[in-house]
Amino acid sequence: MVDKNSKKQEIIDAFHFRHSTKKFDGNKVIPDEDMRFILETGRLSPSSFGFEPWRFLVIQNRTLRDKIKDASWGAFGKLPEASHFVIILARTDSDTKYNSPYIKDHITNIMHIPEEFQGKFLSRVEEFQRDDFKLLDNQRSLFDWAGKQTYIPLANMMTTAAQIGIDSCPIEGFNMETMNQILKEEGLLEDGHFSISVMIAFGYRVEDPPNPKARRNFDDIVKWVE
Ligand SMILES: Cc1cc2nc3c(=O)[nH]c(=O)nc-3n(C[C@H](O)[C@H](O)[C@H](O)COP(=O)(O)O)c2cc1C
Repeated sequence: MVDKNSKKQEIIDAFHFRHSTKKFDGNKVIPDEDMRFILETGRLSPSSFGFEPWRFLVIQNRTLRDKIKDASWGAFGKLPEASHFVIILARTDSDTKYNSPYIKDHITNIMHIPEEFQGKFLSRVEEFQRDDFKLLDNQRSLFDWAGKQTYIPLANMMTTAAQIGIDSCPIEGFNMETMNQILKEEGLLEDGHFSISVMIAFGYRVEDPPNPKARRNFDDIVKWVE
């Protein structure tokens, strides 16, 4: 069995290794099996009620990459250079509302909740969406709920990439409307079932980042309540 302390050190090393890579080496390509490993850790990420309200688009098409580059200021230095470029889409309210066909299909065919328990389960989801989190007041609330969850695979994929020596950069620096328009024209939003949430560039750094990381002190951000 792997010693716990060396395992912890390995993980912390990966967290120090990971940084938001500003410029990628355009000559280096991530092996296919490594990229699949990273995406698999995104797929295995948790989500509220287990609904997996996301899709990962791996954008390797050069023409589309050029269009994205022009629409996203935050991707400067990452496109076209990054080896792999992933857009995380979030499902819209048409799929995440408690009574949507997507949820029905998901609880039946993916979660395998028996028909006789589905009513009770969906009532709980409805109550949560309507009263607890007030997600049914407008479309944006439900979309933002899905969007929040997409940041879990985002983080997991960046961390697991770092654990195998692959660099990444999360990207929110884009105009949502423009990006959605581009993706819609490509037929990637599936008639309004998806909308863009966040993007990630993966590849290999050109230069090392500043060391140490700029971070607040541990005691500044952690409060033990006893
Ligand atoms: C959700 C999110 C969106 C971000 N968007 C961008 C971006 O568009 N472009 C960019 O260069 N960096 C982006 N960053 C990187 C942050 O600036 C960076 O994570 C932060 O400064 C901490 O540095 P580090 O990631 O190198 O540790 C983003 C980070 C997060 C978490």
